[in-house]
Formats: sequence, C-alpha cells, structure tokens
Amino acid sequence: MKGTMSTDVKTIIQEGAELTDRALETLIPSVDTVPASIHGAMRHSTFAGGKRLRPVLAMQAAVTIAGVIPSGIEHLGAALEMLHTYSLIHDDLPALDNDDLRRGKPTCHKAFGEAIAILAGDALQTRAFEVLASLNAPSAAVVQIIGLIANAVGTVEGMIGGQVLDIESEHRKPTPELVDAIHRAKTGALIRVSVVTGGIFSGATHDDVARLDTFGRKAGLAFQIADDVLDMTQDSSHLGKTAGKDLATEKVTWPAVFGIEQSRRDAAALIEEAFAALAPYGSRADGLKSVARYLVERRN
Ligand code: IPE
Ligand code: IPE
Ligand code: MG
Ligand code: MG
Ligand code: MG
Repeated sequence: MKGTMSTDVKTIIQEGAELTDRALETLIPSVDTVPASIHGAMRHSTFAGGKRLRPVLAMQAAVTIAGVIPSGIEHLGAALEMLHTYSLIHDDLPALDNDDLRRGKPTCHKAFGEAIAILAGDALQTRAFEVLASLNAPSAAVVQIIGLIANAVGTVEGMIGGQVLDIESEHRKPTPELVDAIHRAKTGALIRVSVVTGGIFSGATHDDVARLDTFGRKAGLAFQIADDVLDMTQDSSHLGKTAGKDLATEKVTWPAVFGIEQSRRDAAALIEEAFAALAPYGSRADGLKSVARYLVERRN
C-alpha cells in the first residue's frame, strides 16, 4: 500500500477515510444478511458521513513510526470506527442524550427503533473485537492492541466510565476536575488508544508507545473541548447533530467551566503541548500533527 508523507490534511483525511470505508464495507454484514434489520441499522449509522478521525489518527501514528501506511491497518481503523459508531448510537438513545439527528441522518433508534439500536451498538462492539482478533500483525502486537482497546472502551477512565460520569453530572456544578475527568474518559481514551495502537501495529517500541500515549492524551482532551465549543457555536445542519444540546441539558462541558474563548485557547495549547512528544520523529510526524491541528480547527 502506498504510504504518504503529505501534510495536506484534507488529502490525508480523505485517503484514510476511503481506506476505512472500503474495509467497513467488507467487514459489516450486508443488508440482506439475516437478521436483516440489525445489519441495516449497523450500516445506517456507520455509513452516515462520519469524519473517520480515529482511523486516520491510527494511520498517521503508523506513518510516524514506520514512514508508511502499513498494509492491513485499515482493519484496525475499521474496528476503531465501529467502536466509535457504537458509542454514538448508544449516546443518542433516549436514556442518554436523547438525540434525533446524527451525522446528518435520523439517529439509529429513530430509524430502527430502540431495541434494534441498542442491539446494533452491541453488535458493532462485538464485531470490532472479532475484526481485531484477526488483524494482520504479530500475535503479541494483536493481543496488546485488543487489551488496550478493551481497556479504553471500559469503565475505569475509559469511554463507558466517561459516559457514566457525563450522564450523572447533568445539572451539577461544572468544576475543572469534573470536566477533565469526563472528557479524558468519554472521548479522550478512544482517541489516545487509536494513536497508540496505530503505532503498535507498525512496530512501535516501548518508548514510541510512551510518546504516542502522551500525544494521544492531550489531543484526545483537545478534541472533546472542540466538540463542546462547536455545540455552542455552530448550527445543527452544519454539525449534522442537534446544536445547543449541552446548555439545554446542563452538561458539564469545558465552556461551562472556562467560557468559550478560554476553551479555544486551551484546545490550541493542548495541541501544541502534544506536538512536543513527537519531536524525535521530525517530519515523519507531520501528517499526525496536521490531523491533530484539524481536531481543534474543524468546523464540524
Ligand atoms: C463525535 O465524534 C462524538 C464525540 C466523541 C464527541 P466525531 O466528531 O468524531 O463524530 P463523527 O464520527 O465525525 O460523526
Ligand atoms: C459523546 O459525547 C461521547 C461518546 C459518544 C462516547 P457527546 O455527547 O458530547 O457527543 P455528541 O456531541 O453527542 O456527538
Ligand atoms: Mg453524550
Ligand atoms: Mg451526545
Ligand atoms: Mg458533544
């Protein structure tokens, strides 16, 4: 597979998204596979125009380590995207954020009903781990990748734990400690592990993993700060999801604690701090850096 050293972020994201989409197309059962309803639901939410940023981060972390996009990494990217899509389907359920619009389309439960939406989320999660189990990498790397991803999606400082904190903190006093804990877990953990596992897939050493971890932690937090700012500053048609929800539901967000301007500055500063961890890689990290910059400069 052709590698890329290009720093044109649009091209990098488009190439990574296309690789990911082709893999997802083959890895998620077709709509006519029995039972058809759930496969329709899984595909509805997966192929709804997501930015594919976690797969792209994994690929660019691999480029940082090995200089090329390694063949087969699109399966890792597809698994990360399935986990992310599962988290969105469940995040939108009436019992959680109760949203009608996602990626510019009706949410999964609006289109397929709550029962099938819950099961579609479950199914994307199990399918993701099935795909990870057959990654084309040395078995020690595959086992490490599976363990790290399961941990990042889990309850202790992972995605599900962060969702619990997020839901239980509604209507509570926004404090710096609370919002930091929510954001690092609910969103930061999956972003961080996308970067780290992309590196491991292409042979990262122990030191490489530590650097990618530092980078991923900061970039992951910055990503969720940007998400909070966008919720307050963009309209729904632009976002493809209902804007203004965080204020309406009194969520503990970064702007609720620090205000919009400080949030923008914090996100930008975190990205600059994150770059420091990549210094040893020189220009090989340019792609990863440009994607990280995009995480906070994006408009949707
Ligand atoms: C949105 O993530 C949900 C959060 C974790 C904040 P993205 O902004 O990456 O959403 P898609 O995948 O492009 O739809
Ligand atoms: C969602 O955070 C995080 C996960 C799905 C794990 P948000 O609730 O802020 O995401 P959006 O704004 O609905 O995309
Ligand atoms: Mg939420
Ligand atoms: Mg939400
Ligand atoms: Mg949000």
